[in-house]
Amino acid sequence: MRTVAIVPAAGSGNRMNRGVSKQYLTLAGKPLLVHTLEVFEASAFVDAILVVAPSQDLEFIRSTILTPWNLKKVCGIIPGGMERQDSVRAGIEALSPETELVVIHDAVRPFITEGLIGSCVRAAAEEGAATVGVPVKDTVKEVGPEGRILRTCDRSLLWLTQTPQAFRRDLIESAHRAAVRDGYRGTDDTSLVERLGIAVRMIRGDYGNIKITTPEDLVIAEALLAASRQAKG
Ligand code: CTP
Ligand code: MG
Repeated sequence: MRTVAIVPAAGSGNRMNRGVSKQYLTLAGKPLLVHTLEVFEASAFVDAILVVAPSQDLEFIRSTILTPWNLKKVCGIIPGGMERQDSVRAGIEALSPETELVVIHDAVRPFITEGLIGSCVRAAAEEGAATVGVPVKDTVKEVGPEGRILRTCDRSLLWLTQTPQAFRRDLIESAHRAAVRDGYRGTDDTSLVERLGIAVRMIRGDYGNIKITTPEDLVIAEALLAASRQAKG
């Protein structure tokens, strides 16, 4: 099935607070966005990549990211929107007619593996919708506005969701259309599909598939990279 990866990279990285969007920060001499795109470039499950970028950066991405790093599968750089959901929708609207499966992955999760992309895409081909995630390790509390615990959640049922998230194209298109119609804002794409009453497969992923969000994540990222280099010898 023809599969397109949409990589939302149009954020401004406010929580990282570095003056430059975090997708351009370098990790071991390579921009974060390149680390991420290289895994999709290598994946046999992905036919083409759409990068969603800040509207002022389209040429910058072509000249400093795609060309120098020889990223040939990227078939388009699309201007993003105000929030992540708007950026993903811009990517969906730019899909070619023959696209059958869509895999959405945050530009700032550079530790994704070809294996997890494959598992997620395969599950979406079979069941319609899938995400990668991990069981929570800590005990989760619901806390009220006065800072007092309301409830302890049943940890055995709780997972943290990550990306990639993969979908049959018709499903994710209707989910985004319904979200616009209803004014629904979600923080991931499966939530848009869940609210249509459709079951989404959760695939056990990897605790190392972190999202680079705040400054300490860069320290963790350097350590993860060093460990994977050592493992490869
Ligand atoms: N993203 C996007 N368009 C937006 C906002 C976010 O494409 N309007 C992308 C980011 O570039 C990132 C992913 O969505 O790859 C996850 O978002 P997040 O970690 O929140 O990144 P930022 O929005 O850049 O960071 P912050 O929320 O701290 O400003
Ligand atoms: Mg954000």
